[in-house]
Amino acid sequence: MIKKISPSLLAADFSNLKAACEMINASEAEWLHIDVMDGSFVPNISFGFPVIEAVKAHCSKPLDVHLMIVHPEKYIKRFAEAGAGILTFHFETVENPMEVIDMIKAEEIKVGITINPDVPVSVLEHYVNKVDLVLLMTVFAGYGGQKFMETSFERIAELKEIIKRNNAHCLIEVDGGVNVQNAQKLFESGVNVLVAGSAVFNTENPIETIHEMLNR
Ligand code: DX5
Ligand code: ZN
Repeated sequence: MIKKISPSLLAADFSNLKAACEMINASEAEWLHIDVMDGSFVPNISFGFPVIEAVKAHCSKPLDVHLMIVHPEKYIKRFAEAGAGILTFHFETVENPMEVIDMIKAEEIKVGITINPDVPVSVLEHYVNKVDLVLLMTVFAGYGGQKFMETSFERIAELKEIIKRNNAHCLIEVDGGVNVQNAQKLFESGVNVLVAGSAVFNTENPIETIHEMLNR
């Protein structure tokens, strides 16, 4: 089974992003998760294109960009140009998800779709065959450092069922409150990619923490 860690840059020291990239490069993390927040879809504002470009210049791993913005369709080209390897948008933010999926694919990068914990998993039925990745939020999008919602395990099981029923091959990613303690259970439940912000960057040895998440 595919198992990846995608540490979230949101929890890194913003005054030294180069060091964060070098840590990622030296670690077993396969992707670097980049949270883009617009103060509109979510209450918080994070960072945009210049920061992503700067990170891209120093990070050797694919950038896993999570858009928490209204009208993501307006900015797909710019995120692709800035260096996104995977571009994930929220189902809640668009009128026609299929159109947005096609627009992202046209940039020849990977496409992901995501939903907050209050959106029924069943809405994903139409899209599992069209995307490379489904991201299930395990907290409400907007802030790092929140507590993992245990009800997520039922949602993961439901998504797995939908993927199986549609004979789809998309990866399952989860985001929010992931740590060394719950990583193993999440992988065992069928999750392929774990996003972890504070649990990685707020530890003494992030490289070791990433290793433990993969191997505990
Ligand atoms: C929350 C973001 C997450 C966040 C995760 O809206 O999408 O990626 O950085 O942070 P932790 O791992 O600290 O919950
Ligand atoms: Zn995220």
